Amino acid sequence: MDKKITLNFKEKEFEFPLIKGTEEELGIDIKTLRAKTGLITLDPGFKNTGSCVSNITYLDGEDGILRYRGYDIDDLASNSSFIEVSFLLIFGEMPSSEQLNKFENDIRKESLVHEDITSILKSFPHGAHPMGVLASLTSALISFNPGSVDVNSEDKMYHVIVQIIAKFSVITSWVHRKVKGLPLNYSDNSLSYVENLSQMMFRKPNEEYENNHIITSALNKLLILHADHEQNCSTSTVRIVGSSEAGLFASISAGISALWGRLHGGANQAVIEMLELIKRDGGDTSKFMEMAKDKNHPFRLMGFGHRVYKNFDPRAKIIRKTADDVLKNLGIEDPILDIAKGLEREALNDKYFVDRKLYPNVDFYSGIIYRALEIPTEMFTVMFALGRLPGWIAQWREMRLNKEPIGRPRQVYNGSRLRKVGTKL
Ligand code: SDX
Repeated sequence: MDKKITLNFKEKEFEFPLIKGTEEELGIDIKTLRAKTGLITLDPGFKNTGSCVSNITYLDGEDGILRYRGYDIDDLASNSSFIEVSFLLIFGEMPSSEQLNKFENDIRKESLVHEDITSILKSFPHGAHPMGVLASLTSALISFNPGSVDVNSEDKMYHVIVQIIAKFSVITSWVHRKVKGLPLNYSDNSLSYVENLSQMMFRKPNEEYENNHIITSALNKLLILHADHEQNCSTSTVRIVGSSEAGLFASISAGISALWGRLHGGANQAVIEMLELIKRDGGDTSKFMEMAKDKNHPFRLMGFGHRVYKNFDPRAKIIRKTADDVLKNLGIEDPILDIAKGLEREALNDKYFVDRKLYPNVDFYSGIIYRALEIPTEMFTVMFALGRLPGWIAQWREMRLNKEPIGRPRQVYNGSRLRKVGTKL
């Protein structure tokens, strides 16, 4: 295989190295392009542009493959805990039992959140979107943990990492309780991470609480499935904010805001709103399919399509099966699930969707499970953020340990030439 590529420009030849990834994918290393040729590249949405070399997650969009540090997503979702997968993503290897014990205990030591954070939470108006509250509380955590900003050693980085993993599940549960109008619960260090999350979210002050294995195993699986996804919009945001040496909490807060958008993590909320609209409208999915294909209509089939997957999103397949299992085990009939499956069947047989390789993505079925757990629709993307936390941390840590330069893209300027005040165009 050629190890370089040649560019002919202004009757000169310029060579650029080709780099090959573990799975034989190729990239042109253009680090010296502008210095050598004066040229830059232009690629809106970075559809053809790699921002980094990473060891964390591998996606194959054509074959619908997703692996965290070489482990297949289905293997991890079936056989691991969310904290084990978090350790794997962040530190690169599955933890030994000693390492897992230490990691879990270090997280438990940090599971108290300053009580003043509850005052900030209470100051938000009823109806404030949970993603805005979560991003704000994550930023507020910096003020109560000022040592989390300048992490210039691996020890300090480790401490900040266990801090955010511990505190993020607490504030996630507090945001949920605020939406539900319920009093806040506090961490219970006798429980596993996901059992603790579950009791903080669902424990009611007037009832005996009993951990429900169906709920905690569904949450564990969903959190693992959302844990990382290479250089998606919110992860790229975390990396670029972190590249300015902003702290981990600030970078995570920025990632939460990026994830909020309906084209990204916000799609899981938009999917359920779409399915409920179709149900209210009498369930005629073909009418909505036609709208989704109409370029002049703003309606899109939410939960369908993906920048990388041009085949089934492997996570969607697992989540669809999990949705069936959870609803059956909880004895819930949800007509929304049948509408979703009907839409999927129609789309997979529709030329518009088949030609554009539009398949269900991670967001298409996840909301069905959150609904079954009585999590409010506007909280769905908060659950996505909690799942994505270890991936954001892992990618931020990799960027910082690799001492990558501050992210600062170039542009092609298309505005006015020099002109003086008082002159007209
Ligand atoms: C996530 O990147 C990640 O990894 C993200 C994520 C992660 O884990 O981090 O996987 C999580 O964000 C999943 C995606 C959630 N978003 C949605 O479900 C929103 C609906 N999907 C679309 O908006 C869209 O598919 C995107 C945003 C996901 C991808 O958009 P692209 O890659 O920019 O593709 P595109 O918009 O250029 O679409 C190509 C064609 C277009 O038609 P043509 O101009 O070629 O005729 O497909 C059409 C689009 O109009 N199209 C859709 C569609 N998605 C794409 N048409 C109808 N319904 C859709 N959902």
